[in-house]
Amino acid sequence: MNGNWNITEKFNNEAALWDSDPRRRALAEAVAAALIARCTPGKAMQALEAGCGTGLVTMAISPLVKQLTAIDTSQEMLSILQDKIRSLEVSNIETALLDLSSPSVTFEREQSFDLIYSSMTLHHIRDTAGFLCRIATLLAPGGTIAIADLEREDGHFHDNPDEEVHHGFDRTELTKLMNAAGLQDVSFDTIYTVSKKSSEGKTTEYPVFLCTATKR
Ligand SMILES: C[S@@+](CC[C@H](N)C(=O)[O-])C[C@H]1O[C@@H](n2cnc3c(N)ncnc32)[C@H](O)[C@@H]1O
Repeated sequence: MNGNWNITEKFNNEAALWDSDPRRRALAEAVAAALIARCTPGKAMQALEAGCGTGLVTMAISPLVKQLTAIDTSQEMLSILQDKIRSLEVSNIETALLDLSSPSVTFEREQSFDLIYSSMTLHHIRDTAGFLCRIATLLAPGGTIAIADLEREDGHFHDNPDEEVHHGFDRTELTKLMNAAGLQDVSFDTIYTVSKKSSEGKTTEYPVFLCTATKR
């Protein structure tokens, strides 16, 4: 990752067609189902999605919690979610255009969350350790963080070789980063497998984990 890649531009460009990809919808459904099973979102909870995109996961979680803050760096992705919120008259999701990888990120009001989750966002964030520390500080004591992302992969998950991403995560290394961020009880489940065909016609399986951890 050398810093030349413009991630906001990428997701702004992809936003309009994001939900039309059945593979993305199926993955988001699997993430939401695993989150519900593992983290039991409840009606008293304040939740936050880091990197919500068009809200594929957040729209499934919001009916189960009190309030949900959906954060993204792409205004175009957020606009799609804002359209869904308006048309379905959802009253408990607020959206925010914020960069959670920035050390100077600030919230309008002082708030902590009972559940913070992200789906397929961590591999796009250069400073994994800094990002985990930042979201851990937003977590209330007793709260849960849940991160769905790729297992360490061969570097071919993303079609564009110029894209600056982590090639998935090694579970042991991610556990160390979670612990360094002050999170305990780190555990992993394999929740989905993405099958992707390369331009040469070779199909590769990419397992996706859900990593959960708590703040005591
Ligand atoms: C692969 S998409 C996943 C979107 C959504 N979670 C889903 O499952 O469909 C990653 C999202 O993370 C957002 N993102 C990337 N870096 C971010 C950051 N530093 N802070 C907040 N959002 C970020 C991108 O704009 C994009 O919408």
